[in-house]
Amino acid sequence: MRFTVNGSPRDVDPARSPTLLAALRDQLGITGPKLSCDHGECGACTVRLDGELVYACLSLTAACEGTQVQTVEGLANGNALHPLQESFITHDAAQCGFCTPGQLLAAATLLEQKPHPTDDEIRAAMSGNLCRCGTYPKIIAAIRAVADGAGGAP
Ligand code: FES
Ligand code: FES
Repeated sequence: MRFTVNGSPRDVDPARSPTLLAALRDQLGITGPKLSCDHGECGACTVRLDGELVYACLSLTAACEGTQVQTVEGLANGNALHPLQESFITHDAAQCGFCTPGQLLAAATLLEQKPHPTDDEIRAAMSGNLCRCGTYPKIIAAIRAVADGAGGAP
């Protein structure tokens, strides 16, 4: 079966990888989405499926035929990082970085839907992405800076 990943058509065998997360990581070598809880609690596996945030560990590969999948690898524009990626770097918003791909996709989706969110709206939008390192204040600050037009500046 075939779907599009970050703009490129890709073929996978759903029998080998029942979940989208496994298909991306094990068959396509796309390792931005992380395997952590594997049952829809942490958000480390977050990708966008036809523009909607989903947990790839809960998404069936067989149901993704013909869809558009975006992972964190598709967030930058060529060599130019997405403003949120720049801002996460300048605000030191990652420690181990395991949650960061999912955090970035959730934040990008928020700002596309609501370019000037309140802090409460940022917290609500990011509530599906846990960070075991506890970098939440810096994640909020990084998103806040982009929303306020400060780009990557701390
Ligand atoms: S690995 Fe999918 S939600 Fe935790
Ligand atoms: S930076 Fe380590 S889990 Fe978030």
